[in-house]
Amino acid sequence: MGHFWSIGLIIFVLTVVLLAVKQFFWHGRQKQIRNKHVVVTGGSSGIGKCIAIDAARRGAHVTIIARDLKKLEAAKHEILQACKHKDVQKVECVSLDIGSNYENVEKTFNTIERTIGPIYMLINCAGTAICGKIEDTTVDNLKHMINLNFMGTYYCIKAVISRMKSANEGIIVLTSSQAGLLGIFGFSAYGSTKFALRGLAESLAMEVAPHNISVTLSFPPDTDTPGFSIEEQNKPLETKLISAGSGLFTPEAVAEQLMKDSLSGKFFSTIGLDGFILVTLCAGMSPFSSIYELLLQSLLAGILRLVGACYLISFQKIILDCMKNRDKNKKSE
Ligand SMILES: *[C@@H]1O[C@H](CO)[C@@H](O)[C@H](O)[C@H]1NC(C)=O
Repeated sequence: MGHFWSIGLIIFVLTVVLLAVKQFFWHGRQKQIRNKHVVVTGGSSGIGKCIAIDAARRGAHVTIIARDLKKLEAAKHEILQACKHKDVQKVECVSLDIGSNYENVEKTFNTIERTIGPIYMLINCAGTAICGKIEDTTVDNLKHMINLNFMGTYYCIKAVISRMKSANEGIIVLTSSQAGLLGIFGFSAYGSTKFALRGLAESLAMEVAPHNISVTLSFPPDTDTPGFSIEEQNKPLETKLISAGSGLFTPEAVAEQLMKDSLSGKFFSTIGLDGFILVTLCAGMSPFSSIYELLLQSLLAGILRLVGACYLISFQKIILDCMKNRDKNKKSE
């Protein structure tokens, strides 16, 4: 028992020292995007729109891609307002269904680059969440999410990667989800597409690192966006209760964190304590962005596995309680 406590104490002290060093001495440099071309998919609402506004504030030329022209025009107006140098910065919006057909995506990206300039930063935010138990998930919904969340992201990356490599600079952001780090009741289809993005991000990061291109994978928690309110409507009770624990964040906060992390070249981007715990626990064979991060992950891996187990047990309890309540209600009917 004595050894157990001393090991625990050592881990604790080392963690505190690391966090303190990070806080006071580690001021990582952020890349500049002034006068660079930033493209945001899903840029007409939610996290995508917020990050497009953030990019405009930093002086970038911004192109947003989404399907709905009306929403695009409204968002474009907001982004224009945020521009630091309104006379030089260009803001464009393009209506495109990124998940339907690769040739279309490629053509559109060629056009955007010809008119606004080479793309320095591609931020993939387009995605949708439809949840439900497996037996309630329609095949159409499953295919829709695979096409938009996974294939759409893949297509956009494929369309820009060759030119980014020749330019020998660039940043690519992929938006997964906390449901892309652990399986959650009701997210069998959505979660699978978000897990797939992690595979894509890790492979991509390994391929493009020698070309001076950085990759950032974002794991946003529940975020207060229009997409989220639609998602809430058909969410099973279990899913709601399980995700209630990690709280609701504003899209502005998530976007700000994501922008900071991607400009400082971090592979994982997350926000909140639950996000930190999950990303540290699930680091696995993901690339590390700094020695600091690697040390922290190694120190905390064991203890966080135990913390994670407590979470899993509480989720199981929620699911069993929901089942019991349903049975009781059925009987009383
Ligand atoms: C790598 O990219 C950054 C911008 O992202 C640029 O400032 C730097 O010059 C590039 N390095 C090389 C060796 O091209």
